Amino acid sequence: MSPSSSISLTRFLIEAEREGHIQPDLRLLIEVVARACKSISIAVGKGALGGVLGDAGGAGEASINVQGEAQKKLDVLSNDILLEANAWGGHLAALASEEMDHAVRIPEHYPRGRYLLLFDPLDGSSNIDVNISVGTIFSVLRCPDCVDGPKDEDFLQPGTSQVAAGYCTYGPSTMLVLTVGHGTHAFTLDREIGSFMLTTRGMRIPEDTKEFAVNMSNQRHWEAPMQAYVADLLAGKAGPRGKDFNMRWVASMVADVHRILTRGGIFSYPLDAKCAEKGGKLRLMYEANPMALLVEQAGGAASTGRQRMLEVNPTGLHQRVPVFLGSRNEVETAVRYHLERD
Ligand code: AHG
Ligand code: MN
Ligand code: MN
Ligand code: MN
Repeated sequence: MSPSSSISLTRFLIEAEREGHIQPDLRLLIEVVARACKSISIAVGKGALGGVLGDAGGAGEASINVQGEAQKKLDVLSNDILLEANAWGGHLAALASEEMDHAVRIPEHYPRGRYLLLFDPLDGSSNIDVNISVGTIFSVLRCPDCVDGPKDEDFLQPGTSQVAAGYCTYGPSTMLVLTVGHGTHAFTLDREIGSFMLTTRGMRIPEDTKEFAVNMSNQRHWEAPMQAYVADLLAGKAGPRGKDFNMRWVASMVADVHRILTRGGIFSYPLDAKCAEKGGKLRLMYEANPMALLVEQAGGAASTGRQRMLEVNPTGLHQRVPVFLGSRNEVETAVRYHLERD
């Protein structure tokens, strides 16, 4: 077996197919998404020279998405790149995105496949204008027998139903992190040959950590269990921890999760008074669920604070959830604070 540095994504996927881990059409779909991410990486990398920074929408009026967020030009461009790349391949029945109100079908003049693709085309887009890492998150589900063409409801499957999940992080290097249910693996884009090359086979998250990721400015708005958990964590109190924690918060979920997959940590975006009535800040179907599968496949844990993330039964395409994920023992500690105080 050659060293992992010379195994391309294409070879990795062919070997996964040979081992029966994925079907040929899922292999082709993942290749299409990876190719689209390379195009997004190029657009993101142009920065101010590409005329792609700043808000979308015409002079004076912002373009507001279904989330109620002002879209960035790169939100829209990344979404368009993924739509165009996936239109003609014949692997998909429909697509859903953070940036689109409802699921969209594959155009009638193209063949339809049996997968559903969900994506956050540009995650962390509030960082794009200040040149901080952003990313793309994707999740693949099987399409139930969609008789009259997929509807939003066909996407409402629990995270355990995902057949593939991944993200691309546009940082100092462009990396694709992927799971097809047999471990979590990292690929680094070799820009000279234009291929993603396997650089970590089998990422593993340390079970304990000394690093936590949360937006502390929301502290006064948190529920009591979260207040108690973080107060004890910061006081180095009790439990097996009894140590000083370090804090990191990039405000790009992809960047924070990539750090945690690489060296451990706990990431949380809990309920707070500002987002409680929406169910949370982060979206279940194309942020929390794909990240939860990647993290679990790397030996970590992912929870809403009260339930395993992958077992949440979705009720809406843009449903929001509280998120705790990362080093298994630390996530279990945070969950214990919630369950013991409910
Ligand atoms: P998106 O840019 O796709 O809308 O996602 C942003 C999310 C996530 O990436 C990040 O963890 C979180 O928003 C940051 O929230 P705050 O700005 O409230 O810290
Ligand atoms: Mn957004
Ligand atoms: Mn996002
Ligand atoms: Mn986004």
